[in-house]
Amino acid sequence: MRQPLLRIQIEPTNRCNFKCSYCRRTWWSRPNGDMTLEKFMLVLDKVPTVPRIHLQGVGEPLLNGELSKMVRSARSSGARVGTTTNASLMTRNTATELLNAGINRINLSVDTLDPLAFQRLRAGTTVTSVIRKISALADIRSKTRYPDTQLALALVVTPYVLEKLQDIIQLAANLGLDEVYIQNLNSVFLTTNNNDLQQLCSIDHEKYREATLTAGINAKKAGIRFLAPDIDCANHSYRCQWPFHGCNITWDGFVSPCCLQPDPDLLNFGNLFETDFETIWHSRSYRDFRARVTADCEPVCAECPARYGNMWHPSADPYAKYES
Ligand SMILES: C[S@@+](CC[C@H](N)C(=O)[O-])C[C@H]1O[C@@H](n2cnc3c(N)ncnc32)[C@H](O)[C@@H]1O
Ligand code: SF4
Repeated sequence: MRQPLLRIQIEPTNRCNFKCSYCRRTWWSRPNGDMTLEKFMLVLDKVPTVPRIHLQGVGEPLLNGELSKMVRSARSSGARVGTTTNASLMTRNTATELLNAGINRINLSVDTLDPLAFQRLRAGTTVTSVIRKISALADIRSKTRYPDTQLALALVVTPYVLEKLQDIIQLAANLGLDEVYIQNLNSVFLTTNNNDLQQLCSIDHEKYREATLTAGINAKKAGIRFLAPDIDCANHSYRCQWPFHGCNITWDGFVSPCCLQPDPDLLNFGNLFETDFETIWHSRSYRDFRARVTADCEPVCAECPARYGNMWHPSADPYAKYES
């Protein structure tokens, strides 16, 4: 069966200036590198036209000095283009370049407003500095000719997020952002003998439900969107759609199924710099992988928080409205 490709995630770099405690990158030893603009153009040339391209992988996209040129090229393919950033390098100049390049969406990872918690979760800079940069970006966005670029705060769910969730909603509204969204923590690769990390994974489900319900009401009052996944994943009527309609391309060309399992050493279906996309997309190994996902027996996806996730469900998918 031919699978229509709807979204591609491309990794501009896997270098990073942070060491977030829960990030796969902090705990692995893959070689670091950037996708050059030339290689990026080659990727665009090789993949089919898709409605969405997201310029992010494991690493900080703003470390790649060609990011705004990549945005411009991806936009000219007709796709809606976004990125996700830790915002620490978002100067006024970078913000202006990205907006002028026509970026449609910028996800800004924050997680907490508590300075000490921020240090524990997202070691690299201070939360005050990040908020200042997000504020400057929102200010520039409101003054440019691209007021339609969506700005969203991205939160990985930990006990810290729940403590400050209502303050975060208020802050997003005060800054003039469009959305706050929560993503489940993917803890499969985190070492279980680390107490700090174990603590991050222990979410009180009742507290989560209460906090996200209140946040939804507060966000509505404030006129912004709020999206949070079903933490119980009890409703298995939704299934992750990445294996069927999306893929992740690393800076060095490996095609993997998604951004939650982006490690080519763990799983990849071929290298785009050596093979054409169609061959990879319809390869026996990709098809077998999809069959195992459909049968709900793919070991790589076994503990993934998005396995029954509703990230592609219209009520939770920030991009869904663009995909009619
Ligand atoms: C891998 S980062 C790359 C982009 C950029 N460096 C950033 O932090 O926004 C993309 C998103 O994944 C989130 N993330 C990192 N580790 C995660 C994990 N173990 N589970 C779920 N989300 C994670 C980050 O907080 C961020 O919002
Ligand atoms: S979450 Fe983003 S900022 Fe943090 S270490 Fe991973 S790639 Fe870097």
